[in-house]
Amino acid sequence: MGRRNNRYLKFSVAAIIVLLLSFFYYENNQRRLAKTMEDNAYPETSETRIIATADTQENESTTAVTESTEATAESTTPSTKDATKNAAENLSPQTMKEPMKVNGIIIVNKRYPLPESYAPGENKEALSAFKKMNEEMRALGLDITSEYSGYRSYEDQAALYQNYVADDGKSEAEQYSSRPGYSEHQTGLAFDFINTAGELVSSKTEADWIAANAHRYGFIVRYKEGQEAITGYMAETWHVRYVGKTDAEKIYKQKVTLEEYLGVEGGDYSSEEQ
Ligand code: DAL
Ligand code: ZN
Repeated sequence: MGRRNNRYLKFSVAAIIVLLLSFFYYENNQRRLAKTMEDNAYPETSETRIIATADTQENESTTAVTESTEATAESTTPSTKDATKNAAENLSPQTMKEPMKVNGIIIVNKRYPLPESYAPGENKEALSAFKKMNEEMRALGLDITSEYSGYRSYEDQAALYQNYVADDGKSEAEQYSSRPGYSEHQTGLAFDFINTAGELVSSKTEADWIAANAHRYGFIVRYKEGQEAITGYMAETWHVRYVGKTDAEKIYKQKVTLEEYLGVEGGDYSSEEQ
């Protein structure tokens, strides 16, 4: 083999090694973040019990399905998929009067906060759908418990967020935890699945099932891999958001984020301030 060929070979091998190392570094980093979250999953606060149970027997009184809620918005026809439309400028939980809604669907992300005082509690229609999904999963033998994390008030979120920032620092924590006023959990329409080890569900079998079936119950997997730049968060296989069946099916089929579906801005916070 000529000297020149030899050089090319060495260069190629070096390039492959660099690529492989970068890939492993990225994967490791993502895994470490997910692990940190699971280790810290929902520390108890003195004010509230954040974990609830989806067992129908224990929660009989909360299973009633409401006739019509803001969450359903069955007739929604999103006008555009342009995620830069409806620029959000300087919105804050303190200045917001109402949640931002597009075609009846509430949008909460790092650009669109909820009003600090917005405290609707758990949405009954969403909770009922979540319980049915949870029951089907358990009947199939998937590693899921009836425990879940659902509605969180502004104050609950503030306590969680502060804990994560204290543990991981602000920039890392903000990849997986919302500032108070910016969490979908404050809408009462978001739920986290928890497994028998008490962790947020990220195992492949369960995660794949959730991703393939959530829409049948009116949910979307809100934070997916590859969509971080738009949703503003790292992937969360365990977090589902209720939008009603019609929209959930469309979002599932179109493989888009809620931001793209509604044509609103996503991404990072517009200000460093909390
Ligand atoms: N983990 C999600 C992004 C939240 O804090 O609401
Ligand atoms: Zn969640």
